[in-house]
Amino acid sequence: MTAEGKMKAFVGPVIHSLSASELEILPSALLVVGPKGGIAHFVKDCPWSEVSTILASLHLPAHLVEILPLKPGEFLIPGFVDTHNHAPQWAQRGLGQGMHILDWLDKITFPNEARFSDPGYARCVYSSCIDGMLRQGITTASYYGSLHGEATKILADLCLDKGQRAFVGKCNMSRNSPAYYCDASPDESLEVTEECIAHIRAIDPDGRLVKHVLTPRFAISCHPEVLEGLGQIAKRHPDLPIQTHFNEADQEMKATMELFPQFTNEADLYEHYGLLGRRSILAHCCHMTDYEMQRLKALDCGVAHCPISNMTVGGGFMAAPIREFMRRGIKVGLGTDSGGGFSSSILDTMRQAMIASYAREVASQGRDKGLTIAEAFFLGTLGGAQVCCLEDKIGNFQVDKEFDALVISLDGRGDDPGVMTVAEDEDGLGTIFEKFVMTGDDRNISKVFVQGLLAKGGDGA
Ligand code: GUN
Ligand code: FE
Repeated sequence: MTAEGKMKAFVGPVIHSLSASELEILPSALLVVGPKGGIAHFVKDCPWSEVSTILASLHLPAHLVEILPLKPGEFLIPGFVDTHNHAPQWAQRGLGQGMHILDWLDKITFPNEARFSDPGYARCVYSSCIDGMLRQGITTASYYGSLHGEATKILADLCLDKGQRAFVGKCNMSRNSPAYYCDASPDESLEVTEECIAHIRAIDPDGRLVKHVLTPRFAISCHPEVLEGLGQIAKRHPDLPIQTHFNEADQEMKATMELFPQFTNEADLYEHYGLLGRRSILAHCCHMTDYEMQRLKALDCGVAHCPISNMTVGGGFMAAPIREFMRRGIKVGLGTDSGGGFSSSILDTMRQAMIASYAREVASQGRDKGLTIAEAFFLGTLGGAQVCCLEDKIGNFQVDKEFDALVISLDGRGDDPGVMTVAEDEDGLGTIFEKFVMTGDDRNISKVFVQGLLAKGGDGA
């Protein structure tokens, strides 16, 4: 067990993003983490032989620092950020692939989410979900809960207990949902939201790890009074993030415009209700006009890009125009989307983001270039942090940020044939990193740190 109160000095290879296009690959770095989990020092070139001298020059005597050399084949990267995840869909991932969105919600998702009226069931599934996410190296997740207040509080409690950084939202859905899975009334929908906000403030007063996120499921499932009420709550609580589904698929967009004929697009609709701004996390954004992209940029909204679910559930089967968003300076991160997809791995999501971007490159006759590995990695780390307005805290290893990090290991775990074991002696760190992003999986993630504490994987040594 790592000694409380001591600083930790990681010594070895470190890889992180400085921006969308700048990946920093450091073969021998020294990263000092303070007792409260903040990054105290980051020396980018520190050969093993110079560790003591450099620590001394930083006025860090040996007895105050626990030195943690990375083993051969290991390197450090920032923790992954999942900007769009439905925790109650953990047990339904992969079901209903190929279905159109409203049919999929009706047939697969609502019957499943309705089960979270049972707190015992919620505790069991949410516990497994958070463990599973941490195992995938997801140190930060923005979760939609079900509509139930009790289950949503349990989800927040468990994130805090297990040490996952999370946004947790009671899902607002007061209409166009089946009687067995619908808020009792617009007022009740807002009251339960307020209760969840109060609960999460009580368990984590400073929002150190967990925050409530205002979560109108989408305009279709919310009475105008609910959208209005949530906009007012957003105004009263300027620290709370907001999330919703946005321009996901034709079926959904058509139904939205029929319900809200006074608007001609979703950007104007959500802006009208006070739900668009720098803390808005808009999932999907597959079908965007020039006007709506201008609005997102002007309002500094973030996009949760979910390329797996976009190409398997929804009906559009075309992922969002990410290159166009990046060109315009719109914030973008990655989302696994839980049930809407088939994988809770950000590595899988990075790969699918690349594949989807190659299709976009062809469809745009070469104008929208496919994503590079560095860009896909940025989206899953620093880009996600920006979307969650957490870029001052996490996303890379800048000094004064918090240490949310993964130890990646290429040791192959003995005889497990599924694990990436392809690193060759002559491979440089850049090549090893590329192999990890394209072929690695959770078995290569040997330790997960959130705020400097080990969330998974042994003794931290
Ligand atoms: N739109 C409204 N609810 C959902 C959901 O649960 N998943 C997806 N992909 N889209 C939605
Ligand atoms: Fe979703």
